[in-house]
Amino acid sequence: MHDEASGRTPIEPQSVDAPLSTAAVFLVVTIEPGQDAADRAREVVSDIGGLVRAVGFRDLNGHLSCNVGIGAAAWDRFEQESRPAQLREFFEVRGPVHTAVSTPGDLLFHIRAERADQCFELERLLLAKLGDAVAVVDEVHGFRYFDSRDLLGFVDGTENPTGASMARSALVGEEDAAFSGGSYVVVQKYLHDLGAWATLSTEQQEAIIGRTKADNVELDERAGERKSHKSLNTITDADGVEHDILRDNMPFGRPGQGEFGTYFIGYARELWVIEEMLRHMFVGVPVGSYDRILDFSTAVTGTTFFVPSNDVLEALAP
Ligand code: HEM
Repeated sequence: MHDEASGRTPIEPQSVDAPLSTAAVFLVVTIEPGQDAADRAREVVSDIGGLVRAVGFRDLNGHLSCNVGIGAAAWDRFEQESRPAQLREFFEVRGPVHTAVSTPGDLLFHIRAERADQCFELERLLLAKLGDAVAVVDEVHGFRYFDSRDLLGFVDGTENPTGASMARSALVGEEDAAFSGGSYVVVQKYLHDLGAWATLSTEQQEAIIGRTKADNVELDERAGERKSHKSLNTITDADGVEHDILRDNMPFGRPGQGEFGTYFIGYARELWVIEEMLRHMFVGVPVGSYDRILDFSTAVTGTTFFVPSNDVLEALAP
């Protein structure tokens, strides 16, 4: 669409701002070696809009969306003239007790819908198109758990920025004009020890998260107290400006296998903000006072991607 007033075509981000959904698929793949595999991957991701329309139109009330993220190494294989300014691999964060591991991934597909079958169908068609050009390294089917709670029992997503502050926190702007409308994304798959978590009292759990469990109200923290998850993730720069990110975590699990997890996904305009949150959580503030969520939740993956605007994504076609 052309904007008559500015004379410019507005940038169209991918569906970064899609609302929290009932169902989601997080699919991470690596691209096989060789030019043919890279070309096939470029072709499929550049044309993903067609697939989303094909499946989404079968029930528009399902609000199907799919965001494609591209890793640093994959970007370099896509033979582009320029690259997003802050795109880099996920650096392992080694704390005194817990480590945020870095794991492989060239492409991320973050599929969301109100219907699990639409997510499934899009994933099925997408993988058929990608064929042997990719290898699946991680696949998680997430679901909404009651009133958007994680499996630790807390409402997750409350403090997400909305409206203009969402765009300010999650979308690249004029500071990197060629990639404006894009977003840096970090994903981590966490597995919970729910048995150990259940041995804590509700008050102990609330102190770890920084909010009340039943009614989801923020707790005040006293000076000198060990910082909660909420406080560790409040990032303020030297000028006192707060920097936020957009999260769309989803629970997943297989009770029969003893698997209970949270898939963390954070979108940011500035990648350093998420990296700083991870340092706060794993190394601690002050150093050593790490996020006690980690005593009950183990990060088993960690990967960084860039979700370009739709215009940039379409232009990736070989
Ligand atoms: C086991 C994994 C995780 C769980 C279960 C979890 C859960 C929660 C919950 C329940 C809240 C409070 C409600 C809300 O505002 O959403 C919260 C807040 C938040 N989390 Fe997490 N989280 C996890 C991992 C992470 C990671 C890895 C990051 C960043 C790298 C992060 C960043 C944040 C931020 C920025 C807030 C909002 C803080 C505020 O402004 O109040 N979380 N999380």
